[in-house]
Amino acid sequence: MRGKSVLLIIGGGIAAYKSLELIRRLAERGVTTRAILTKAGAEFVTPLSVAALTGEKVYDDLFSLTEEAAMGHIELSRSADLVVVAPATADLMAKMAYGLANDLASTALLATDKTVLMAPAMNVRMWESPSAKRNFETLKRDGVLFVGPNDGEMACGEFGSGRMAEPHEIVATIETALGGEGPLKGIKALVTAGPTREPVDPVRFLANHSSGKQGYAIAGALAAAGAETVLVSGPVALAAPANVKLVRVTTAREMLAASEAALPADVLVMAAAVADWRPDIIANSKLKKSTDRVVPLIRLVENPDILATLASGGARPRLVIGFAAETDDVLENAVAKRTRKGADWIIANDVSGDVMGGDRNRVHLVSETGIEDWPEMSKLEVGARLAARIAEQFKET
Ligand code: CTP
Repeated sequence: MRGKSVLLIIGGGIAAYKSLELIRRLAERGVTTRAILTKAGAEFVTPLSVAALTGEKVYDDLFSLTEEAAMGHIELSRSADLVVVAPATADLMAKMAYGLANDLASTALLATDKTVLMAPAMNVRMWESPSAKRNFETLKRDGVLFVGPNDGEMACGEFGSGRMAEPHEIVATIETALGGEGPLKGIKALVTAGPTREPVDPVRFLANHSSGKQGYAIAGALAAAGAETVLVSGPVALAAPANVKLVRVTTAREMLAASEAALPADVLVMAAAVADWRPDIIANSKLKKSTDRVVPLIRLVENPDILATLASGGARPRLVIGFAAETDDVLENAVAKRTRKGADWIIANDVSGDVMGGDRNRVHLVSETGIEDWPEMSKLEVGARLAARIAEQFKET
């Protein structure tokens, strides 16, 4: 990415503050940014913040003689290697879909000869409205690239799709857009994440502390590297990463069925903390305390081992990666697990601390050829490094 340049159009949405972080992250990667701040965008972030971060003047006026004299709007629209719209509001998307050009941002979008990447951000109802959907389809047909929007809680308090993609997701998409094809282009990836819940009765279940963060980070990194990615997830409080197909499940048996349905895949990453056991019988009605204080006895039966099943099945992915969550003898257990489950690699992590639910992880990659110790890093970085390692592996074979 080093030496490339981006024209960033900042629309008027609460997510505009994330665009400041985006500029910073691009600068760290040696990408220069010129910014157009719309009138509405300037209600959310100040021209001074944008100018300080880009190190350039901020463009905001189509009808300014002095600006036109310095760099005309046509020249500006073509000055960068890529045009990025973040946040792409419903208004900006509509203008571009219809070819309106009544301010600097919309004029630049109509005049540019470069690829445009949009990161939509709006309320869920707006995103799901027929007109926004229509504009989205039109823009995609016209060759506009998209990152997000993600699911999650909105600034307005509602929940759903319409949150702007995170800066690191936008950067990864920009990287792919600038560099042509991602290293995992053409590869199909299946990732599982989160816990499974095994019902006891209509109101209770057995589960574990898995937050899903590591699996979601891996799925996001694989998608950002160009892989067509399916994420089968147990119940977690996370938004789907950008450009990932999310399949939500509850129990281990549902996770197995959804994973089998997602095959064939080139690579499987089993990051889910699958419950090893489930109650033998699920009570149809809520279990009640008895007057004689006899506690219910819950008999457990073993769940299918999804990793072992997929690793020995007919549609075995070329690269099968499992996790080993251990509290003791981490490496010995991981090495044994690799052969027992028929996996190619095992990512071993010590979960005796606050790894489950935390944002950082320290893992070891156990393969046929040995053990790689990775330093402690964020779960997002583990995801990116694993995606890069997978790309390397596919390049070799
Ligand atoms: N796994 C699975 N299906 C299960 C249990 C685990 O696919 N029913 C997968 C996990 O997703 C992980 C790997 O197997 O990739 C190892 O999980 P872990 O919980 O560490 O191992 P277990 O098989 O549960 O073994 P043990 O509890 O004895 O350590």
